Amino acid sequence: MTLEIRTATDNDWESICRADGRAFGFGYTDAEMAERRPLHDLSRFRIAVDNGEIVSTAGSYALDVTLPGGVCVPMGGVTWVSTLATHRRQGIMRQVVEAVHADIDSRGEPLATLWASEGSIYEHLGYGIASQVRMTTINPRLASMGAEYRCEPGSVRYIDGDAAIDAMTDTWERFRRCRTGEVSHDHAYNEVVYPLRARPDGAMSGAYYLSHADGYAAYRIEQKWNTGHPAHILHLIELAAVTPEAHAALWHTLLSIDLVGEIRSNVIASDDPLPFLLDNQRALRTIELNDGIWANVRDPAICFGARSYRCSDRLVIEADGKRWAIEGGPDGASCRAVRTRPDLLTTHAWFSALLYGGTLPSTLVAGRRMTARNADVLNRADLFFGTALAPHCQSHY
Ligand SMILES: CC(C)(COP(=O)(O)OP(=O)(O)OC[C@H]1O[C@@H](n2cnc3c(N)ncnc32)[C@H](O)[C@@H]1OP(=O)(O)O)[C@@H](O)C(=O)NCCC(=O)NCCS
Repeated sequence: MTLEIRTATDNDWESICRADGRAFGFGYTDAEMAERRPLHDLSRFRIAVDNGEIVSTAGSYALDVTLPGGVCVPMGGVTWVSTLATHRRQGIMRQVVEAVHADIDSRGEPLATLWASEGSIYEHLGYGIASQVRMTTINPRLASMGAEYRCEPGSVRYIDGDAAIDAMTDTWERFRRCRTGEVSHDHAYNEVVYPLRARPDGAMSGAYYLSHADGYAAYRIEQKWNTGHPAHILHLIELAAVTPEAHAALWHTLLSIDLVGEIRSNVIASDDPLPFLLDNQRALRTIELNDGIWANVRDPAICFGARSYRCSDRLVIEADGKRWAIEGGPDGASCRAVRTRPDLLTTHAWFSALLYGGTLPSTLVAGRRMTARNADVLNRADLFFGTALAPHCQSHY
């Protein structure tokens, strides 16, 4: 086998789609490949080629991510990681992903993150779990909201076309800065995504958009007529509410949609206040709580120096032999390499997991992924790194 690892070019796009399709089990038509092409900057993709055939791929999206305190940093959203079944477990994915990391580093992006298809792949590559994803189901027939949440007539409306693209761009930009872990969606992205979502997806309808001055929601409907007992499934695919009023108004409207027997979603944060707005909190059930975003901090000084901390303190963390002193508080911080005695000892993956504030040092210590100098240090570390709002990401990249 003569393996070449190189940067992808425009000419590789269709072969990348075919290789990835084989690895993940999908197949794009020519039209689908063409319409998705603008979402991908192939200069950020690396491919392994064996005898003229693409056998492994990985790339990244240029994104901006919100950190605790509301500061945003540029980030490489790693994606399209695959190796053909004929070439697996020979270390090829590792080489291709490391080439993508080198590209992210060369662009000055201090962070790489990804969604993992399987839980056991990415710790080997320096990634730790930074946020969670929750699968929920709501029975709208049990989920009544108090009359006080009924929105003013006209404050929530259906939108489509350019109005939906503008809401997805402008409202999202305000929303994503309020939640650690959420990422940028620019206008060009929304112009591609809107027509993709407008088409039916399997048994689901095209997307509908509900708009409020400070929020919007996107959903698809899967019809279930059940011979006279309609119980459609409403699949909530995005909900961006900048204010509590927008959140309540959008949910009041979603829960009022007729013929719906279930609302399913994986975009509701674990600390979303919705259950408290319902007369019966158990109308919302959590079906699964899984790992969400995996983070690999490429530049600790920039990442841990950019976020804020819940209280003022200074802690030294040793990760894979390198020691970092983080000193900061609610108003800002600095992070620099030091030689002093560490308070916490871990690997690069679980050091990275601390960035968003959703994975606490005490959890990692109890899970044997970290050790602490003593119980007092561990208590301080939990107070320091933890955040009020759970980090969360609705964007799948
Ligand atoms: C996941 C996938 C890309 C791995 O490709 P690969 O070329 O076989 O991976 P490598 O040989 O470079 O393995 C790198 C490391 O990850 C581990 N690893 C890879 N895939 C793994 C898996 N599915 N489960 C557990 N560990 C895995 C390997 O053991 C290896 O660890 P080591 O270097 O410490 O021994 C490939 O199996 C694939 O295409 N799967 C289907 C698509 C997919 O799920 N992609 C990931 C999207 S997030």
